Amino acid sequence: MHLIRKPRWALPENRVTPEAVWLDRRRFLAAAGFAGITAGIGAGIPVGRVHAATAESPWTPAPETNPAYADAGRPVTDEGINSTYNNFYEFGSHKRIAGDAQALETEGWTIQIDGLVEKPFEIGTDDLLKQIGVQERIIRHRCVEAWSMVVPWIGFPLKDLVALAKPLGSAKYVRFETFHDPNVAPGQLQFWYPWPYVEGVTMAEAENELSFLVVGAYGKVLHKQFGAPIRLHLPWKYGFKSVKSIARISFVEEQPLSFWEELQASEYGFWANVNPEVPHPRWSQATERVLGTEERIPTQLFNGYAEEVAHLYTGMEEGLGERLWR
Ligand code: MTE
Repeated sequence: MHLIRKPRWALPENRVTPEAVWLDRRRFLAAAGFAGITAGIGAGIPVGRVHAATAESPWTPAPETNPAYADAGRPVTDEGINSTYNNFYEFGSHKRIAGDAQALETEGWTIQIDGLVEKPFEIGTDDLLKQIGVQERIIRHRCVEAWSMVVPWIGFPLKDLVALAKPLGSAKYVRFETFHDPNVAPGQLQFWYPWPYVEGVTMAEAENELSFLVVGAYGKVLHKQFGAPIRLHLPWKYGFKSVKSIARISFVEEQPLSFWEELQASEYGFWANVNPEVPHPRWSQATERVLGTEERIPTQLFNGYAEEVAHLYTGMEEGLGERLWR
């Protein structure tokens, strides 16, 4: 049985230990060889215009921006802010994991595809990218913690991978699993978390145009702290559904039990659709803090992507909340 601990991102930001943040940041700066702290954000939390070194774009010419997702209605969040403010519990239960996440070895990464498919197989991300073309999308990203960003992701629709996997008719959900290697990710030594990180979506959600497998950001190969070499992004759901560093994708009949749901089901449910009308049990979801500008803006239903996804939840509208949330 796991000891139930609330995720750190469930705490108000003014309870994040500034010293720990500073210490971690110093370590990161030393490791990455960068300098240049500038303005701070949040409750005195320093944020610099630095980010971990990433490989330059392997894509020539640069991936085209999908015209349907070329404008998120707000400016793209500065790369330095985004790449130094990440949730990746495998590397620590705080936001400054960028330095430690560089330990992640992504060369030769493979993904296991199994469960209810015609034939299980394992595929390298490099091989995957030879078969599926990439595109750029400028997309809103909203964390359950009530902060948000706009990110220029590079990747491909999850439905392209579903087609490659050839799921059987009996598959009802897609289950995603992050790598498990405590030697690389010391956070995985914290026994009270149910490692590896697991998330899941319904087949209909997986086949929705918005579900995106991400392999790059800001024109580059995906930064390790963003969940290299391949992570999911579901822009209409709270960020915790967007599982990082995926090592296994399974097609299953039962609704997968996700990492945070296993820890605290009453607060982090399976659906987790962004909904300003349904408060988290401990705070409001009516507004969000835009990282970088510090503006507080109203949160939109489905994070503003209702047109694309609302139909997935027909029949669940009652209260547009409890049931969508949990
Ligand atoms: N995936 C893994 N494997 N481990 C994590 O800790 N954190 C989640 C999600 N995916 C997490 C994860 C949470 S809570 C959020 S908000 C987003 O990743 C953060 O993504 P970002 O760092 O790119 O903003």
